[in-house]
Amino acid sequence: MNDTMVDGFGRRIEYLRISVTDKCNLRCVYCMPMEGLPWLKRAEILSYEEIVEIVRVMAGMGLKRVRLTGGEPLIRRDLHKLVAGLRAVPGIENIALSTNAVLLDEQAESLRDAGVDRVNISLDSLRPERVERIARRPGSFEKIMAGLAAAERVGFEPLKVNVVLMRGENDDEIESFAELTRTNPWHVRFIEVMPTGSNLQLSADQFLSCDEALERLRRVERLEPTEGPTGNGPAAYYRYPGAPGTIGVITPMSHNFCGACNRMRLTADGQLRPCLFGAIQTNLRDPLRAGEDLVPLIEHTLRIKPERHYLEQGSDVGSGGLVALSQTGG
Ligand code: 5AD
Ligand code: SF4
Repeated sequence: MNDTMVDGFGRRIEYLRISVTDKCNLRCVYCMPMEGLPWLKRAEILSYEEIVEIVRVMAGMGLKRVRLTGGEPLIRRDLHKLVAGLRAVPGIENIALSTNAVLLDEQAESLRDAGVDRVNISLDSLRPERVERIARRPGSFEKIMAGLAAAERVGFEPLKVNVVLMRGENDDEIESFAELTRTNPWHVRFIEVMPTGSNLQLSADQFLSCDEALERLRRVERLEPTEGPTGNGPAAYYRYPGAPGTIGVITPMSHNFCGACNRMRLTADGQLRPCLFGAIQTNLRDPLRAGEDLVPLIEHTLRIKPERHYLEQGSDVGSGGLVALSQTGG
């Protein structure tokens, strides 16, 4: 069997983002509506055994790294058991987690012991009342801060902090976030908000480009381009001279980054998506449950991985009708 997954545009695909649930304990304004979304049913969702089996097949084809996402992955029961299962798959070198950190304080040790190497934490403001307004969940700030501290305590490394830029909401904190990289070895990453069905107004009215953020940070001090943590596709990294941490920018809207794409996605209900956006997906769940060979299906999905996304501000057409990123694992 071929042990490298290369798509139709010569991109090497070694990284799978796995959504373990479409649910979330927050309601971030740019992500999902206050009332939530029509959630998947239990029977539709892959079991841990099924996820491990899919990863085992893909590892045989060249997959090397996985990331667990959601929704919010830590709300799925005993997530550490899935981590342990993935750790035991030959060929999987790295297991990462993307979380809002609300539940990280209580789970960090068991996740690390099971084999999580690194985490990305979403944090859109450093001010308690703002975090809770953006996440629409009172009381979350303190838990998120405890989660961040736990991530450091148990030694997740590198530690990335994701900040979604919103004009009029958190743009006055761009400098404060960047200052964190002078005292912490963190990778603070600014993300341009992407339009989905549930945020069309916000993503059009409050869009702020990473170029604008960088321009503001350069007024504070010169920024040097730098490597950033390894294995990363679409982010570009900078640092202030001598700073232990880096500043990353993720620019889905202003600069198309798809040429560096190294990933596919698995939704909670077992659809393999070659791209975050667009309607293309391959059902792996039902063939897996029917005992069929998944290799041809995965190869087919690789072949039809699109060259790029076609997102446009103010429209959900390019997103393939996606209501929220939480549905595909962000
Ligand atoms: N645009 C940009 N980033 C988003 N995220 C969720 N929805 C969007 C969106 N519409 C972010 C989360 C998290 C990451 C996985 O994606 O804040 O940091
Ligand atoms: Fe939850 Fe992440 Fe969506 Fe916020 S962005 S509501 S934390 S899935």
